[in-house]
Amino acid sequence: MRFSFATLDLVVLLSTWLPLSSALPTLPPLADYQIRNFQTINKIYQFTVYPRQEAIIAQVTSDSIPELEPLFSPTVSGRIQEIGNFTNFRHSIEYFFGLAPRPQGSMYSAIVEAELTQFSSDHPSIAASTVNFKVALDNPSKPGFGAPGTRTYTYLKQTGFWHFDEQGRVDYYDLYIPALNEFATILNGADFNSKLVQLLATKQICQGAQKLCKGKNTQYHPQIGLNIGGVLNALGLSPLLDLPLINQLGLGSLNLGELTCFAKLSAKSFGTFDKLWADTVTCRIVHLMLAEVDPDDHCEHVGPTGGGKCVEYPYYDRQFKDNTLFGDTRRFRSASYSTLST
Ligand SMILES: *[C@@H]1O[C@H](CO)[C@@H](O)[C@H](O)[C@H]1NC(C)=O
Repeated sequence: MRFSFATLDLVVLLSTWLPLSSALPTLPPLADYQIRNFQTINKIYQFTVYPRQEAIIAQVTSDSIPELEPLFSPTVSGRIQEIGNFTNFRHSIEYFFGLAPRPQGSMYSAIVEAELTQFSSDHPSIAASTVNFKVALDNPSKPGFGAPGTRTYTYLKQTGFWHFDEQGRVDYYDLYIPALNEFATILNGADFNSKLVQLLATKQICQGAQKLCKGKNTQYHPQIGLNIGGVLNALGLSPLLDLPLINQLGLGSLNLGELTCFAKLSAKSFGTFDKLWADTVTCRIVHLMLAEVDPDDHCEHVGPTGGGKCVEYPYYDRQFKDNTLFGDTRRFRSASYSTLST
C-alpha cells in the first residue's frame, strides 16, 4: 500500500476544505478570434449534413450565396488531397457541398453528423482541424431517407489547415482526406479492384455523362460505325471465353454516344480514389458528381481530354505548388514562429 490511512485522511480533509474546482488547473479563456474561427469551420461542415447542402447546391451558379458569404472569401482558393485544387469561390463551394453524398440512385447515403474532433487556432488567421463525418448508408430498395430498414454507418475523415481573412472568412484551405478509396468501397458496397465493377462503373459514368452533359456541354459525340464487337475486341474480351462477363456488362443497353464514351474511357486506366487528380475513370466519377450541380463548368472534366482536371499532374506539382495556390509557401504558419531557429 502506497498510502497510509493517515495520508488518506489528509486527502479527505483537504478535499472537503478546498473547493474541488480550485484544485484543478483552470483553462485560459478563449480569445474572440478562436471562438469565431471554430464557429466558421463548424458552420461550413454543418452545411454538409443532409439535407442542408441542398439549399447551397441550388444556388451554386448564382452570383451570391447569402448563407456562405460570412464563411468564405469571394477569392477563396484551396487544395483537397488527393482530389484536386479549387481555385475560386464557385469551385470551392461545389467541392465542399456538391460532393457531400445524397441519398439517390444506387448510392443511398448521406452525412448525418459532422464533428470537429480536433481543432486549434493560435493566430487570428490560422486554424487546424479534423472533422469526422458520420455517413448513413441506407438501403436503396427502401426509398425515403431514414425509412425504417437496414441502415449502417461509416465515417470519413478530413484534416488540415485553414486561413482566414480580416473579416474571419476562409480565404485559403489545404485539406486532406485519408483512405478515400476504402471509404468509396464501403459507400458503394462494391470492390473497385474487380474488373467487372470497374467496367460497370465506366458504363454508369458514360450514361450519366450523356444525360447531364448536353448541347454545348456534350463530351462524347456518337462515333459512326462503332459497334459492341469492336469495343469488346479492343478490351481484349473474347465473345467465347468471356461470355459471362460480357453478359453482365450488358453493353447492348447503351446508345451510340454512350458506347463511344465507354470505348474511350474503358481504354483509360481505372485509377483509385486515393489519387483522383489523374486521367482516370475514378477522377471522372467525382467530376460527374460535380457536373450534376454545375454542368457548364464540370462536363469537360468528365470528357475524353479531362478538361485540365482529370489529367496527369506531376507528383511535385500536386503536393508542393503552395506558392501558386496560396500565394505563399508558409501561408498556414504564423509569422511569429519565424523568429525561432529551425
Ligand atoms: C490547379 O490544378 C490544375 C490541374 O488540375 C493546374 O493546371 C493548375 O496549375 C493548378 N492551379 C494552381 C493555382 O496550383
